[in-house]
Amino acid sequence: MTFARIVGTGSYLPPRIMTNAEFAARLDTSDAWIRERTGITQRHIAEESQASSDLALQASQAALAAAGVRAADLDLIIVATSTPDYIFPSTACLLQAKLRVANAAAFDLQAVCSGFVYALATADSFIRAGTHRRALVVGAEVFSRILDWNDRGTCVLFGDGAGAVVLAAGERPGVHASVLRADGSHAGILSVPGNVCGGRIVGSPFLQMQGGQVFKFAVKVLDEVARETVAAAGMRLEDIDWLIPHQANVRILEATAKKLGLPLDKLVVTVDHHGNTSAASVPLALDEYVRAGRIRAGHRVMMQGVGGGFTWGATLATM
Ligand code: ACO
Repeated sequence: MTFARIVGTGSYLPPRIMTNAEFAARLDTSDAWIRERTGITQRHIAEESQASSDLALQASQAALAAAGVRAADLDLIIVATSTPDYIFPSTACLLQAKLRVANAAAFDLQAVCSGFVYALATADSFIRAGTHRRALVVGAEVFSRILDWNDRGTCVLFGDGAGAVVLAAGERPGVHASVLRADGSHAGILSVPGNVCGGRIVGSPFLQMQGGQVFKFAVKVLDEVARETVAAAGMRLEDIDWLIPHQANVRILEATAKKLGLPLDKLVVTVDHHGNTSAASVPLALDEYVRAGRIRAGHRVMMQGVGGGFTWGATLATM
């Protein structure tokens, strides 16, 4: 039987750091409010010249180097993003060109903050089906471009960045199980309800959110999907070494760990210094903990996404 295993991780954060104090200087908010309600102290913001594919390139090169895999040996590239460089071609195709390779299948996957988990599960299926052997799975976002910088209820929450993993076919798991879910009837509580039509923006190009509803929904489904995923893997919650939920808000993360009965020392938290980077949040957090030597070979890691759509999902993998 063939399984998919994460053989390298990488990430990239643009150098410009934006602190809470910068918001407090021009909006009716404060460092204390942002810290207390979200746990966020700072986020990284891309330069105007940097697109998602640029951030993705840096993260991908780091993941390929960590894996000891050449870009030319990839046969699948999936980029999860809601902030693509263009309407088309896909960010995955632009990334492929920047990696100076051709031939591998390349496409974008749009599931907002669940995008990376959806993309990981998709690549795992390709590898298990036996049609592909080496996949690059990336989450890359420039959410700073779709924020209303005068809306204190949303602009303080997000940041830019990218994370990547290389998945390779092998005899042992690797990825044990993934569960993906969606409920489009909740589309209205988190959206960017705009479009480009005939050269004009129709609707709104900015993120809109019902924060309280998103909060409750996220905690509920992150709990449910963690339980479904360990059951699908034939394991128990106690078997998890690390829980990496989508990095939305420290309160959401801690409430999820508490509901699951997991100690906080198994909870991966990077939202405090990354902000919410949507599809990039989980691979960014994974890479940070791998590079710090905290997540190590043999550890069982549960990665979870939840976001616009509404979409949610989880993957349980042994590193
Ligand atoms: N600074 C100061 N006051 C603020 C700010 C701010 N940045 N933002 C909102 N407020 C005010 C509101 O206007 C409101 O004022 P009012 O009582 O006079 O009307 C008050 O604070 C309380 O607002 P709530 O929305 O009830 O505050 P809450 O404790 O729910 O925190 C927050 C808001 C942080 C957005 C929270 O609901 C949350 O984190 N929700 C989850 C949203 C999330 O993480 N979204 C990310 C995308 S979704 C995803 O990734 C899963």
